[in-house]
Amino acid sequence: MSKLKDQIVKLAESTALTNQEIAKVVGCSPKTVLTYAGSYVHRSQTKADINGNAWEIQKTVLLPDIHHPHYEPKVMDSINQFIIDYDPNEIVYMGDQLTLDCISGWNQRKPLLKEGQRLMQDYNSFDNEVLKAHESITGEDTKRVFMIGNHEQRIEWYTEYHPELSGFVDITRHLQLRERGYDVVPFNGIHKVGKLSVIHGYYWNKYHANKTLEAFEGNVVYSHVHNPQMYAKVSPVDRKGYHMATALPCICNIKPDYKRNAPNFWINGFGIVEHLPATGYFNLYTIIIIDGSFMWNGTYYGKDL
Ligand SMILES: [Fe+2]
Repeated sequence: MSKLKDQIVKLAESTALTNQEIAKVVGCSPKTVLTYAGSYVHRSQTKADINGNAWEIQKTVLLPDIHHPHYEPKVMDSINQFIIDYDPNEIVYMGDQLTLDCISGWNQRKPLLKEGQRLMQDYNSFDNEVLKAHESITGEDTKRVFMIGNHEQRIEWYTEYHPELSGFVDITRHLQLRERGYDVVPFNGIHKVGKLSVIHGYYWNKYHANKTLEAFEGNVVYSHVHNPQMYAKVSPVDRKGYHMATALPCICNIKPDYKRNAPNFWINGFGIVEHLPATGYFNLYTIIIIDGSFMWNGTYYGKDL
């Protein structure tokens, strides 16, 4: 097999790239790709037969920055109403599910700010109010992804001061996430939904979407900033070669007591992604929640009016 043919066949078998995309990668004409790899549609259908649901649109709900216990119950209630109707294939907790004030390095020398708080209580009430609540309103085959944000990472940082507790206070262990079927994504890890990379997020500047796109050079959605923003970049060489970075709003209380009314740009909301596994193409929708209510597909979610 020639080197070119070898490359084309390998890409056709192992990726969802179109013939034109393969041609661009290996530096040949789409006709050559067609000769060695067949048509894109035929290839995708064959893969679909093998992969089962590759041509079924997959529905993902992205839940950003819950910050339990500093979340807004009416926001979560409306999202839960939506989850029941929407029946997603996947729920992704994008990081900072828990605030974990009691082990925060910021509070290390401030016992007043940790008074009465217990790590065990934080874990258990989060489990009951969030994870178990969602497990009870979704199907058993729902894929569940638990991303570690900087707040969950506080546990690792805490054990750097208390190595004797290493592993013992671990959130994955305590909540038995893996045993319960959760896919746990480590701090700064990436979860893929088709061609979209889901991350917790890094940057906190004014133009965070621009900064994130510059760093990732690909389609990415993140939380972390509690502030919706989007930035898109289109290659002048290939008009199809565009990428977007999207920041989602948050589920947490947007005016928490500890901020003492300081100004912020936090907004409530969450994300919905629909994607086709055969191509990896997706649509991402940012839902903004105002006073605990929002609308989707002609239905109102929120408190009774
Ligand atoms: Fe956060």
